[in-house]
Amino acid sequence: MPRIICVAGARPNFMKVKPVMDALEARGAEVVLVHTGQHYDAAMNDVFFADLGLRPPDRHLGTGSGTHAEQTARVMTAFEPLVDELRPDAVVVVGDVTSTLACALVSAKAGVPVAHVEAGLRSRDWGMPEEVNRVVTDRLSELLFAPSPDGVDNLRAEGYHDDQIHLAGNVMIDTLYANLDRALASDVLHRHGLVPGEYALATMHRPANVDDAGMLTGLLNALGQIARELPVVLPVHPRTATRLEEVGLPDGIRLVPPAGYLDFIALQASARLVLTDSGGVQEETTALGVPCLTMRDSTERPITITEGTNLLVGRDPERIVSTARKVLADPPPKRAPSLWDGHAGARVADAILAYLEAPVRLRPTDSRESIAA
Ligand code: UD1
Ligand code: UDP
Repeated sequence: MPRIICVAGARPNFMKVKPVMDALEARGAEVVLVHTGQHYDAAMNDVFFADLGLRPPDRHLGTGSGTHAEQTARVMTAFEPLVDELRPDAVVVVGDVTSTLACALVSAKAGVPVAHVEAGLRSRDWGMPEEVNRVVTDRLSELLFAPSPDGVDNLRAEGYHDDQIHLAGNVMIDTLYANLDRALASDVLHRHGLVPGEYALATMHRPANVDDAGMLTGLLNALGQIARELPVVLPVHPRTATRLEEVGLPDGIRLVPPAGYLDFIALQASARLVLTDSGGVQEETTALGVPCLTMRDSTERPITITEGTNLLVGRDPERIVSTARKVLADPPPKRAPSLWDGHAGARVADAILAYLEAPVRLRPTDSRESIAA
């Protein structure tokens, strides 16, 4: 059976890689789980292995934090010898973090097919580091697994061939459904003194929102105004924690450490409103039917707006507050995008194994040769 490396490195990777790994192993593949070490704090890393039942990584690259170039280079130099040693038949990368791009680049140059899970998403905001990672990772990948039809449309428009593109559904939602009952049994609301349906949950960690003191202050002020009507709980990402030391915090916002997976799902499920700049949280709130305001000017996940509970509210504090009031008074209905059904990991695994089992001459045409550079 084929040997397949699955790469994870940062918080939103763990819940995406787990269903793919499980499905590959259930079909007899040998899976090597490689952790790049991009995230390493107990609250950003260890808790996800415990909560998700993810086995310890088979290999850990220990690369840690750094600038984009430092981090990319460190992951690449640590991953390249591993690929030479293990000679995998394929490498699976998920999402849009720096580790995703770095491992895809090494694999492509080593001649190992790359499967990108969460392909085709586009914010069209080139100032967002993840957008660069998305576009380049897709370009390096032979198998492109889109979570939603908009992803397929984007890939087709960029010249990728239909036989490379798979509408697989959303692996993050596989993990949500698999763990929902356990999450709902969490006592996190009790621990934070929260009443179901009577609080708002917020997260913020996009560099464009938190690295600039003026922008961060404006967004916190918006949360502070909402907190006058509804308690706001804000689990703080480490990037944001550093910045919060420089700006004042309005009354009423309850800062808590980054939440574990089960606790965070429980916090989302019982929130009256979620305010976020996270990619994954836009999707999970849609699946849970909880109203979500995305404090950004663009989203790479438009299906959460057209077929979900998400509203792109921008970053103007007054607009955030007035939209929050409207949504509290008139919440959107729960809707579920198709193929967000708990079986995306199985579809990904089936397609990867079918690809590897096909004689090389029958594999999808390599669209990379026909896409203009
Ligand atoms: C990264 C991803 C982002 C994703 C986010 C999820 C990139 C370019 N960005 O952003 O897409 O949404 O993870 O959470 O890959 N730090 C710690 N402890 C940790 C990890 C990070 O203290 O365990 C601090 C360090 O000071 C580090 C900073 O957070 O420099 C930023 O970490 P980094 O992984 O570079 O980017 P994120 O902002 O976490
Ligand atoms: N998450 C979590 N604890 C938190 C915040 C988020 O477990 O305090 C989970 C969330 O449920 C989702 C994932 O982390 O599964 C989203 O990751 P994040 O927001 O860090 O990254 P993004 O999706 O923006 O890349």
